[in-house]
Parts: sequence; C-alpha cells; structure tokens
Amino acid sequence: MKSLTQHTDYGNEGLSDSEVGDDPIALFQAWLQQAEDAEVFEPNAMVLSTLDADGTPSSRTVLLKDITDEGFVFVTNYDSRKGEALDAHPPVSAVFGWYALKHQVIVTGRAERATSEVSDALWNRRPKGAQLASAASAQSRPIDSREALDAALAELTARYPDDVAVPRPENWGAFLIRLSTIEFWAGRSMRFHDRHLFSRTADGSWSRQRLQP
Ligand SMILES: Cc1cc2nc3c(=O)[nH]c(=O)nc-3n(C[C@H](O)[C@H](O)[C@H](O)COP(=O)(O)O)c2cc1C
Repeated sequence: MKSLTQHTDYGNEGLSDSEVGDDPIALFQAWLQQAEDAEVFEPNAMVLSTLDADGTPSSRTVLLKDITDEGFVFVTNYDSRKGEALDAHPPVSAVFGWYALKHQVIVTGRAERATSEVSDALWNRRPKGAQLASAASAQSRPIDSREALDAALAELTARYPDDVAVPRPENWGAFLIRLSTIEFWAGRSMRFHDRHLFSRTADGSWSRQRLQP
C-alpha cells in the first residue's frame, strides 16, 4: 500500500490564463469529455454537499444528468436525506474529482426541484431495472434486511412485467442547480497548482479570478 505521507508528482500541465477562456460551461464540458475519453468510471459523478434542516452537513455522490442554460441537473428521491435537506436549505456545493487527469471542479449554487416535464423525460430514459429499483426503495430510510428490500423489488417486478411501463413515483425526480460559482483546479508540480474561479454576475455573465493554490 502507498504510504499516506508519500508525495505524488502532479506533473506540470496546469491551466494557463489563455487556456481557461471566458466560458466556464464550455471548459467544464471539455474537461468532462477528457474524463470520458480517459475512461474515468462514471465521469459525470459529483460529490454533492447539503445542509440538513438542523444544519448538519452531509455529502454523497450523484450523477450529473444534464447541463442546460439554467444549470446542472441530477435525479434522486425527493424524500431522501438530500431531498429533505434541499427543501430546507437550497444552497449546495458539488465536487467533480477527476484525479486521474489531475483535475477538480467545484461548483456552488442553489438547488430547486426541476419541472415535472424534466423529471418525466429523465425517468423515461432510465432503464427499466433502475426504474423498478428506484420505485422499490424508500431511499435513506432504514430497512430490516436485504431480503425485505429484495421482496419489495420482486413485488414491483411482478406488478410491472415487460410490456407494462413503470410510472414515475411522485417522490422521484430531478433537481436543477442554478450555478453561482465554478472553480477549476489543475494540478502542477511542487503542489503549485492552478485555480480559476468563475462567479456569476448580476447580468448573468461570468467573471473570473485566479486563486492561489
Ligand atoms: C457513482 C455513484 C453514483 C450515484 N448516483 C446517484 C444519483 O444519481 N442519484 C441518487 O439519488 N443517488 C446516487 N448515488 C447514491 C448516493 O451516493 C446516496 O447513497 C443516495 O442518494 C442516498 O443519499 P442521501 O441519504 O444522502 O440522500 C450514487 C452513488 C455512487 C457511488
């Protein structure tokens, strides 16, 4: 096992002022494509942090499902811990950790439930097995055993055979994160990394600052 104090070399690539450009969404899409090309497992995974109603922070991985003019979209169970947290506190932070590429992107913004049309469209693109699993799971709630979970899935599988569509559960849907900031981090040698922080301005455009590593 690698010693936890061993220093890895992060190379010298970085992200220069000319490469970073002035469109953070275009740069994000280019980095996401690089992660896909490098066969990063689930390149669209982000670690989403929220605050529970009582102020307790929590984080978990979710998959980015769409990038629109309005922001980033992910799907989940609205009654899950994160769903309830977002109803209480819309501000979020999410991290894309593309370590194999020495890239990190951190976004912040406010999450809101997407329209039912957006949720329906994403539900309909979901494979049937995943639809059944989502419908069978009261996400984040305790359950006595794996057998009880499997029984719930078996019951739904029998109710919705191959030719019968699974309706979208009312508590399953999309959230839209309206982005406030996007920070790009690119590793360089000697831990002297590049950081560029884009912030949304009042007129909807983006301003950029270079941050110290
Ligand atoms: C790679 C990966 C992708 C995941 N994608 C999602 C997702 O898109 N939506 C989701 O609700 N949970 C997803 N999960 C599960 C969550 O991390 C988490 O366990 C679940 O949503 C419950 O979180 P909560 O109790 O904080 O609400 C994913 C987990 C991993 C490891």
